[in-house]
Amino acid sequence: MPFFSRDKRIISIDPSGKSIKVAQVKNRGAKRAPIIEAFFYEKLSGQDQLKEFLAKVQPKLDTKRSQIVLVIHGIQSIYRLLDLPRMDEVELEKAIRYEEEVYVPFPPEERVVDFKVLEERDTETLVALAGVRRSAIEELVAPFLDAGFGLTSAELAGLCLVNLFNFMRLDDPSKTVVLLDVGASFTEFVVVSQGIPFVIREINIGGDLFTEHLEDVLHLNGEEAELIKCNPGEREAEVKSALEPIFYRFAEEIKVSMEYTGHQSLGKVSKIFISGGGSRTPGLREYLEKSVGVPVLGWSALERFEIGKGIDKNSLEFRQDMIHACLGATIV
Ligand SMILES: Nc1ncnc2c1ncn2[C@@H]1O[C@H](COP(=O)(O)OP(=O)(O)OP(=O)(O)O)[C@@H](O)[C@H]1O
Ligand SMILES: [Mg+2]
Repeated sequence: MPFFSRDKRIISIDPSGKSIKVAQVKNRGAKRAPIIEAFFYEKLSGQDQLKEFLAKVQPKLDTKRSQIVLVIHGIQSIYRLLDLPRMDEVELEKAIRYEEEVYVPFPPEERVVDFKVLEERDTETLVALAGVRRSAIEELVAPFLDAGFGLTSAELAGLCLVNLFNFMRLDDPSKTVVLLDVGASFTEFVVVSQGIPFVIREINIGGDLFTEHLEDVLHLNGEEAELIKCNPGEREAEVKSALEPIFYRFAEEIKVSMEYTGHQSLGKVSKIFISGGGSRTPGLREYLEKSVGVPVLGWSALERFEIGKGIDKNSLEFRQDMIHACLGATIV
């Protein structure tokens, strides 16, 4: 039996269809910065490559002494913040069963649901409810279980972002802000107010659609379009204007999502905090700022972490704007 409580190590795995990010972080209590002990990133084009990657990194991670969290997105997860009357635990369980019937629209045998009490007030309880489809999550976790990663939990990407945002204490917590993580295929849209995630939505637009759009408009193949999007050089003005129609669609989606937020009497959204590889797209931030009418700010995921010895610091810093969900899952 251990006599002293140990520092808590967490390994987080953030797989998208196109790439994977893995971080191992040692949490050392409230007063000391967590240490990033390991970080791996790889572009992937299929299941075989994923297998190879997992076999390669597994021996370099402390899987035996760590909790292992899988970040989930892109599989139609459902998140709902419930405002319920105060009740005891048994009643709450019953109330949740009822709410999941309403909000998690899968047949009962296909429903995987979990909840967490976020706040207890005088007469009400704020409860976060999350649900996914059983077959989708089973398919997602299978390669990790096969590779010997004993998963401790799965966490919605949107909640990981909120976790990191709260940890960083970037803004007046009483304000309502939007976190926008623009990935390859999806964008996570999250409304946070007083540290509480009120709305989480996945928008089906991301960096890869911007590339496809450039292919069409500028008559390029996929590789050329990706290259010019990431390094436009002299053609920056041309790239920005070619992307405007797709930026328009994106901004409209965001505005609709924000209007929905308005119904929840949270007050006006004061800022958008943007992250994800897609947030680097030339002209995107400026376009959103103008079209949505609120400041759009970038934020580094690394500021409150210590970077461990033996880590390729440059590679990590190069990705500091696209590892928010991955690092957010490691904070306890
Ligand atoms: N310099 C850059 N300029 C513009 N876009 C970029 C740049 N670098 C990367 N991207 C885009 O960022 C996307 C990848 O970002 P990120 O790693 O955040 O996504 P992901 O987590 O793999 O995907 P998802 O979150 O959708 O599952 C790709 O679409 C890529 O084209
Ligand atoms: Mg992502």
